[in-house]
Amino acid sequence: MASISATSLLLLLLPISASIYTTLAASVIEDLKNLKPPHDFNSTIMKTCHHNPSIRYCSSSPVDLHEIFKSTIVASHLCNESKNPNCVESFPKIDLRNRPKIAPLYLSFNFFWKYCPLSILTIDVSNNSLESNFPIDVLQCTQLQALDLSHNDLYGDVPIESFSPLANLTSLNLSYNHFSESKISDALFFKRFNSSSFLHSGLLPHKKKFRIKAVILLVGFPIFVILMVCCLGWLCFQRPDFLPRMLRRKYRFTPAMLKAATNGFSRRNLKGKSEAVDIYRGTLRDDTEVRIEIYRGENHPNLIEECKVLVRLRHKNLVNVLGWCNNRRLRAIVTEWMEGENLEMWLLESNNTPWNHRLKILTGVVEGMCYLQEEWPEVGYDLRTSSILLSNNLEPRISRFKIGDQSCRSRKMYKLGVLLLEMLINRRPQEDFETGEAGFLEYIRMHYPGNLQKVIDQKLELTQNTFDQAKQAIGLGLMCTDVSSNQQLSLGQVFDIMSRAYQSCRVLASHSHERIHAERGRGHKRMQSR
Ligand SMILES: *[C@@H]1O[C@H](CO)[C@@H](O)[C@H](O)[C@H]1NC(C)=O
Ligand SMILES: *[C@@H]1O[C@H](CO)[C@@H](O)[C@H](O)[C@H]1NC(C)=O
Ligand SMILES: *[C@@H]1O[C@H](CO)[C@@H](O)[C@H](O)[C@H]1NC(C)=O
Ligand SMILES: *[C@@H]1O[C@H](CO)[C@@H](O)[C@H](O)[C@H]1NC(C)=O
Ligand SMILES: *[C@@H]1O[C@H](CO)[C@@H](O)[C@H](O)[C@H]1NC(C)=O
Ligand SMILES: *[C@@H]1O[C@H](CO)[C@@H](O)[C@H](O)[C@H]1NC(C)=O
Repeated sequence: MASISATSLLLLLLPISASIYTTLAASVIEDLKNLKPPHDFNSTIMKTCHHNPSIRYCSSSPVDLHEIFKSTIVASHLCNESKNPNCVESFPKIDLRNRPKIAPLYLSFNFFWKYCPLSILTIDVSNNSLESNFPIDVLQCTQLQALDLSHNDLYGDVPIESFSPLANLTSLNLSYNHFSESKISDALFFKRFNSSSFLHSGLLPHKKKFRIKAVILLVGFPIFVILMVCCLGWLCFQRPDFLPRMLRRKYRFTPAMLKAATNGFSRRNLKGKSEAVDIYRGTLRDDTEVRIEIYRGENHPNLIEECKVLVRLRHKNLVNVLGWCNNRRLRAIVTEWMEGENLEMWLLESNNTPWNHRLKILTGVVEGMCYLQEEWPEVGYDLRTSSILLSNNLEPRISRFKIGDQSCRSRKMYKLGVLLLEMLINRRPQEDFETGEAGFLEYIRMHYPGNLQKVIDQKLELTQNTFDQAKQAIGLGLMCTDVSSNQQLSLGQVFDIMSRAYQSCRVLASHSHERIHAERGRGHKRMQSR
């Protein structure tokens, strides 16, 4: 057991040698349990402090004799464990390298570190698999010159600010631990010790990791940017309808947009087909129903030039051209979709085609023609019953325009005359007459003016008053088709005649019907005056 004298233990802490060394046989735990301070311990300490007041326990108050005594026991054991040459006197190093069995025990004696002997200049507790926070008690040995905590499993923050009292610390090794990454603001600390003090300590950002991060950033960011640009480019060129309206080019449709609008040009959306043109019904992303005319081959070479003009036409009696697609693969015009039928089908198939409805349609057609003549004289059109579309409330819309159509004014009047007559006579000029329009006109002239009952369409349901109007209209139609005399007629005049007839017709209708109809008539008038 304890064959050691307290005095000799104490002397280990002091820079004075005056005592006999006795062998340390018992373990430090047993010694701490069994050894008691001798009766003169107090006075010995007092004397020592008188000689050397810088010893740590001398400045502690109140003086805890028991703790000081215990720390002398730990010190004497540590001196021997660390193989210091002469453990009777003071010892310079604590070397617990590769001593995983005892290192944690000694680190836990906080009373020892509190009175850390001034002679100790080196502490090495490396390679002990220490699994704890930073052993901050060790830093109470402020005179240290070297501290090695490398090759352990220490974790948590390194108390960097607690290093500042260790002015003489020149060698520090925290390498191979698992400390938390330090904030870079502690730059001074990292300047004091070079990076070989912190290899794989976790304290500094891992170089490899950093490099990987840098590589990811350097390579990834440009790739990300390129991808974004590609996406945006793809959107711009393929599906501009996904872009905000201000980024789109107005009137411009892409094949991808039209494909999407028609379910991939599905059969169900195909509404008409001829040699040169396929007609699809489609729905744009904003739910607008559109008619898409796709031109095949070399047909219609001026399509785009024409569309650029047509998109600017705005009139209730003209089909609204929304835009075009001009692509190597696809050339198309996109117009609004008209739910109703065309005039030709309406005349043939509808059972409700009275005089006033036909007058309304004719008036609308002439109104559209007037607009074109005044505002867009360069825009021609193919005036025939099949190219006039009807909206649900029988508003006619002229379609199939031609730019630079040089057909003269009298030719247009002629076409209008034929249309007018066709709407009153139950015959179709192209189908029913061998010589076409000429035969058709000849046929009417033969019966004009005396024999008109024979040729006028029975579905008109004419009364005496309206019969007179119809007769006048046929006269007007014949005048239009007479190229020698139609020079004197202007479209404006025709419009005046038609609209006046339409008005009086509606007045007649409202007189002969109930008030309900009168109401509706006023509604019509409002619409008309718009
Ligand atoms: C000193 O340490 C050695 C091992 O390092 C041990 O064998 C010896 O017993 C120790 N002496 C005392 C007095 O404890
Ligand atoms: C130690 O001795 C001093 C006088 O030498 C005395 O004042 C002090 O109280 C003593 N302390 C203890 C813990 O006995
Ligand atoms: C750490 O200790 C182990 C034995 O516990 C030993 O094999 C190893 O070489 C030591 N490593 C260093 C760097 O001292
Ligand atoms: C550092 O060393 C010098 C000279 O060796 C000494 O005077 C000073 O007290 C030491 N500093 C600390 C904090 O121990
Ligand atoms: C780091 O400092 C030590 C001395 O403390 C020196 O031996 C070593 O060469 C230094 N390493 C670097 C990379 O500066
Ligand atoms: C700290 O320890 C590691 C591993 O043992 C070693 O590579 C490094 O050089 C040491 N650094 C210093 C400053 O001694």
